[in-house]
Amino acid sequence: MRYLSPLRYPGAKSGLAPLIAEIVKGGARVLGRPQMFVEPFAGGASAALRLAADGIVDRVLLADADPLVARFWQVAAADPEWLVDRMHDEPVTLERWDYWRGWTPKNIDDREIAVKCLFLNRTTFSGILHGRAGPIGGRAQSGPYLIECRFNKEGLERRLRFIGDLYRAGRLIDVWCKDWEATLADVAEYYPQLVPDRVIAYLDPPYLRKSAKLYGRSFDPLGGYGTNSRATTEGWGMKGWQHLRVAEYLRRRATYRWLLSYDDEPELLTSPALYAAGRMTPNAEEKALLGVKEWRITKRLVEMRYSAGGPRAQRRRDELLLTTLPPSSLPLDDRLRTPGAAS
Ligand SMILES: C[S@@+](CC[C@H](N)C(=O)[O-])C[C@H]1O[C@@H](n2cnc3c(N)ncnc32)[C@H](O)[C@@H]1O
Repeated sequence: MRYLSPLRYPGAKSGLAPLIAEIVKGGARVLGRPQMFVEPFAGGASAALRLAADGIVDRVLLADADPLVARFWQVAAADPEWLVDRMHDEPVTLERWDYWRGWTPKNIDDREIAVKCLFLNRTTFSGILHGRAGPIGGRAQSGPYLIECRFNKEGLERRLRFIGDLYRAGRLIDVWCKDWEATLADVAEYYPQLVPDRVIAYLDPPYLRKSAKLYGRSFDPLGGYGTNSRATTEGWGMKGWQHLRVAEYLRRRATYRWLLSYDDEPELLTSPALYAAGRMTPNAEEKALLGVKEWRITKRLVEMRYSAGGPRAQRRRDELLLTTLPPSSLPLDDRLRTPGAAS
């Protein structure tokens, strides 16, 4: 319970969080205890919450480019009691759903942004904050699941207080609203005392496919809701370009150890512009000026179970996990498969 994020997130990695915790612990045995765990695509932040709660890392830092999401985490961290009271005052009705869908803040610091995020996330189909997704139960509010079915205020109260506790204890140190690359650059600038080998960046970018419909900040240049949800690198279009930008950075300029999760799409491992390489490939200048190492990139597949339309409808799909943590950090069991190897 104490690990649970107050946000339901499309693509949430709560199922992967225990494995990520094991991998980070494994890395710590070789490299020393991580001083910081950074989640630059935070979303529901399930991995960071688990690591902070279990004390596996000294500190976690969250960032997301979506102002709604970033503001939610900022208020939950610094002002949990206000958010808890405000949540209890909020009726969970279709009228309020329409209100929040139409509401825009007059200033970007408004704490009500956190209420909007929490409300829409817990009452909208699949937790989708933006776009065309409707309220749980539909406009007719008929069927087994109605608008308030995921809005258990007592449970959410505990989860919100837990975020506040982590922040007060200094285990959640900050929440930023930034593009992922600015986050990684600014960690180096604001925390120059960190030992690069003991900082882990966990990147969980929007899916290669489908992300346009799920997130307010997808990698879709059309604003996130383009009709073509097949985000692909074919033809190196703009959507693909965002994924290439992440890959290029991680292969050549990342000074911190990194862990990356993606939907399992074959081109991720076959394209040299993505992750076909077996190790990082910085040039001489990047090595000399940035101190980038040529860490090996270890690749694994993990089977994820997720619910599809109701608690009893479970589906399975593979998630790709890539990391520059030493291969000996990875648990040796059948949860992790080498891509291409027969299962
Ligand atoms: C796959 S979700 C992360 C899910 C998260 N790992 C979890 O367990 O809930 C991707 C997140 O990246 C954010 N995002 C999209 N583009 C971004 C960018 N350029 N920089 C930072 N965050 C971005 C989206 O707002 C979204 O919250």
